[in-house]
Amino acid sequence: MTDLATRLTAGFTAAFGSTPDLVVRAPGRVNLIGEHTDYNDGFAMPIAIGQETRVAFRPRPDGPLNVAALDFAEGDSFNPANPQPSGGGWRDYVRGVVSQLRLAGVTVPGGDLAIAGSIAKGTGLSSSASLEVAVARVILEALGQSWNPVDLALLAQRAECDFVGVRCGNLDQIASAATTAGHALLIDCRTLDLRQIAMPDDAVVMIVQSGVVRGLVDGEYNRRREECESAARILGVPALRDADEAMLEAAKVRMDESTLRRARHVITENRRTLDAAEALASGNLAAMGALMRESQQSQAQDFGITVPPTDALAALMNHAIGDEGGARQTGGGFGGAVVGIMRKHRAAEVQNAVIEGYRTPTGEAPTICIEAPAAGAGPVI
Ligand code: GLA
Repeated sequence: MTDLATRLTAGFTAAFGSTPDLVVRAPGRVNLIGEHTDYNDGFAMPIAIGQETRVAFRPRPDGPLNVAALDFAEGDSFNPANPQPSGGGWRDYVRGVVSQLRLAGVTVPGGDLAIAGSIAKGTGLSSSASLEVAVARVILEALGQSWNPVDLALLAQRAECDFVGVRCGNLDQIASAATTAGHALLIDCRTLDLRQIAMPDDAVVMIVQSGVVRGLVDGEYNRRREECESAARILGVPALRDADEAMLEAAKVRMDESTLRRARHVITENRRTLDAAEALASGNLAAMGALMRESQQSQAQDFGITVPPTDALAALMNHAIGDEGGARQTGGGFGGAVVGIMRKHRAAEVQNAVIEGYRTPTGEAPTICIEAPAAGAGPVI
């Protein structure tokens, strides 16, 4: 039993005086490339990671849904037939999923539900998406309903957009629900076609937390999305997915500088993500790394979502990794984590370079982890 499993079972028993009927896990994710492309109907390529959220559940035919968030030592209790927003925080992710399940025609039972996770919050590794996916999955498991992972992910996304109020795309939830161990996942965020890409045997993924916890990301996030939508309107296309660099060049006199740069990031990032999928599939870490470096430049200069510490950390990692691999800030932006891909034999050296060369804004050594692509959400007992 892992620490998380023990903590969850013990916490469930302490909170509710019984043992759970079932436990589900849903992983966090790290996006290798394809940033802020999902809500532009584009492409992204995440892997699921070992850090995850687990949810334990014991349903009852009637009564409230009692929830214990073990990591916060907080609780909630609400009528699953009529979930109302609670004013923010983790409760709304749970209530939002229940609300969306009801809208999808699922009769959500009452009962006791406990949550514990190992994903550091605010680090851009999708703790919220994994919570949403785990809650949806455990309720459906309890009802004996087996959903397609993409449908489940889209329901979880709607919970975040419609109930929590962050207009996120579908990357995080699909990554948590539909990944396969040992593989990255190329997502076509419009058609929802998925391509599993085997991670090369001698490649490793390293995640370094910058220590800059995302602050006003949600406001900035929604603002970026509006800028992209405005660029698509000016270009006369349904989404930036449908535009290319020549179209942007032709339309640039009709766009302000900032809108132009936002659009250029998304258009070039879509191309880079498709190229990166080919590079990874053929084990070409030099090409993959070059694309990740370009992505970092693009999100720094054009999309404006990096911060000086993540710029410095990505530069340091890129230098230490050398030609066969690369690094970039990952996730929604404004801090969070930097992801690197490299040959296995380089990992120790890169790790040492980071420990020696980078301090978080509060002066500490950063948290570093090496990840093998994990499996998507599923039951554990
Ligand atoms: C956040 C959102 C995702 C995606 C990324 C940026 O993680 O939840 O939908 O837009 O930012 O790529």
